[in-house]
Amino acid sequence: MARKKIALIGAGNIGGTLAHLAALKGLGDIVLFDVVEGVPQGKALDLSQCGPVEGFDAKIIGSNDYADIAGADVIIVTAGVARKPGMSRDDLLGINLKVMKAVGEGIAANAPDAFVICITNPLDAMVWALREFSGLPHQKVVGMAGVLDSARFSHFLADEFKVSVKDVTSFVLGGHGDTMVPVIEYSTVSGIPVPDLIEMGFSTKERIDAIVQRTRSGGGEIVGLLKTGSAFYAPATSGIAMAESYLYDQKRVLPAAAHLTGQYGVDDLYVGVPVIIGAGGVEKVVEIKLNDEAKANLSVSVDAVKELLVACKGIDSSLN
Ligand code: APR
Repeated sequence: MARKKIALIGAGNIGGTLAHLAALKGLGDIVLFDVVEGVPQGKALDLSQCGPVEGFDAKIIGSNDYADIAGADVIIVTAGVARKPGMSRDDLLGINLKVMKAVGEGIAANAPDAFVICITNPLDAMVWALREFSGLPHQKVVGMAGVLDSARFSHFLADEFKVSVKDVTSFVLGGHGDTMVPVIEYSTVSGIPVPDLIEMGFSTKERIDAIVQRTRSGGGEIVGLLKTGSAFYAPATSGIAMAESYLYDQKRVLPAAAHLTGQYGVDDLYVGVPVIIGAGGVEKVVEIKLNDEAKANLSVSVDAVKELLVACKGIDSSLN
């Protein structure tokens, strides 16, 4: 059987890390695409030279031509710019919307059968726009945020409870960042819900609330430390987990920005919810029962996503 083909649109910090992980894990041959000439080619050559040391044979090429992504099985999109000081939200939206348009058209023309994972921020709006511009089926276009947010939450919880991260499962819903909705009733250590762990004396409500807040601003904390650039290791690892679930038909239940058609009372929006990812792409949206607090928080998150889409439609009238 021929090797799978993984196309990475954007060869920046996350794109390069994605390529490294995909090669180490033997996911398939890799195309690193970027608009900047030389960068994807240079990174591809550097990464290819890991092969003899690590023992992988993946073919890794860098490209500035969308024709090279032809026939890709999985495409992970990190193309775009990050928000810089002085840039308004609409400035950022305007720039990255244009990028999504070019990427969506490139995918539609060259790899319309791919499973597409979008990582570019603002995530919930960009994944929606990418789907609109590409015209791919909704179940084949998904946004990566929840796996990262829940990994951040799990890391902090494992630290707090002094247990292995392997036994922590954390559950998040909603948009990426400030409006993310961690559901502590469904976050567990080996099946024991966090509220029970609080009762058992492992932590306090106040400390868990602080962890929730730290998780919500998890990306900002890293930007503050790095000063230039934003998180890339954990975002890349999270994107790869989603790609593996598709490529190997693992049917993992992962939080992801998925297209809703009435679930959670939301219609025709991309919002972070638990989904089953398998060979069919997003095979099912898992609709859980929420308490009133989580429902209210999710509705704030959904409103924030809606506001972003209104702004997108204002910037690009073809989205109306
Ligand atoms: N097509 C392809 N690549 C593009 C385009 C485009 N139209 N416009 C910009 N790029 C490339 C840049 O040249 C750069 O190499 O996208 C890459 C982005 O890389 P970084 O700036 O290093 O950003 P990174 O840290 O990888 O994050 C990418 O993911 O988490 C989000 O907020 C983050 O939106 C950002 C994205």
